[in-house]
Amino acid sequence: MADVVLVTGATGVLGREVVARARALGMPVRALTRRAELPVGEGVEWVRGDLLTGDGLAAAFAGVRTVIHCATDIRHPKNDLPGFERLLAAARTAGVGHVVNISIVGVDRIPYFYYRIKLAGERLLADSGIGWSNLRATQFPTLLDSAFGALSKLPGLLLVPSGTVCQPVDQREVAERLVELAQGAPVGQAPELGGPTVYPAERLAESWLAAAGKRRRVLAVRVPGRAGAGFRSGALTTPNADGVRSWEEYLAAEVAR
Ligand SMILES: NC(=O)c1ccc[n+]([C@@H]2O[C@H](COP(=O)([O-])OP(=O)(O)OC[C@H]3O[C@@H](n4cnc5c(N)ncnc54)[C@H](OP(=O)(O)O)[C@@H]3O)[C@@H](O)[C@H]2O)c1
Repeated sequence: MADVVLVTGATGVLGREVVARARALGMPVRALTRRAELPVGEGVEWVRGDLLTGDGLAAAFAGVRTVIHCATDIRHPKNDLPGFERLLAAARTAGVGHVVNISIVGVDRIPYFYYRIKLAGERLLADSGIGWSNLRATQFPTLLDSAFGALSKLPGLLLVPSGTVCQPVDQREVAERLVELAQGAPVGQAPELGGPTVYPAERLAESWLAAAGKRRRVLAVRVPGRAGAGFRSGALTTPNADGVRSWEEYLAAEVAR
């Protein structure tokens, strides 16, 4: 029987797709969550564990050779680094041979708080002594969708960062790439993965508004500081536009309903 793959963040936007993809390929999957009530998934072994406290990790990592790390605490991102340290310690103890990590295009060029944490996580991984692969991907359409949903609560206006371009990539395609990496030997820094098209933020907002049937004036505002300059530098995009599913397809399937 093939070795068990442990997926962290398995209830999340990306992790769900990683679990589905690995199962579709017949890989034995163990899925980590902090939830008191474990999800029920055919062919998936759900286990409870918390990367921040370490609870449940020894059992979750037992017998695991490969980890796909998708967990993040987006509300308290500073928890991600101690969580990653615990993950690596548990992986070392269990004799894991390969940790596959998801990161973001531009983390090395944009000094935004969350990105600094992602970059520090990449460095922890590279220095861990464990075999590793790291994939930087661009923004998922779900992220833009929920950001526009939140920003459109303001009446009349939808504010977007000026001078900023984005290249949404479908999370299912990112999940496919992560599983592919997990099936092979560790590669270190993998080629980046971006969506098929680069759009100015204003255009993404306008097309989202049209699909959602909302009327707002899109207003581009300058984000101050070095992080804002980083966003305006084009560093959220990559020449590796291997993603196929377009933002328009996402809007038609998920927003214009
Ligand atoms: N969203 C994007 O556009 C984008 C783009 C590129 C890369 N990424 C990266 O992709 C990854 C996944 O993002 P996502 O949008 O799928 O996130 P998400 O939907 O917020 O899912 C994150 C998951 O992490 C788990 N988690 C949080 N804290 C944990 C802890 N202490 N211990 C164990 N599990 C914990 C949660 O599961 P439970 O609540 O079930 O425990 C949650 O389901 C992140 O690393 C992110 O940086 C995201």
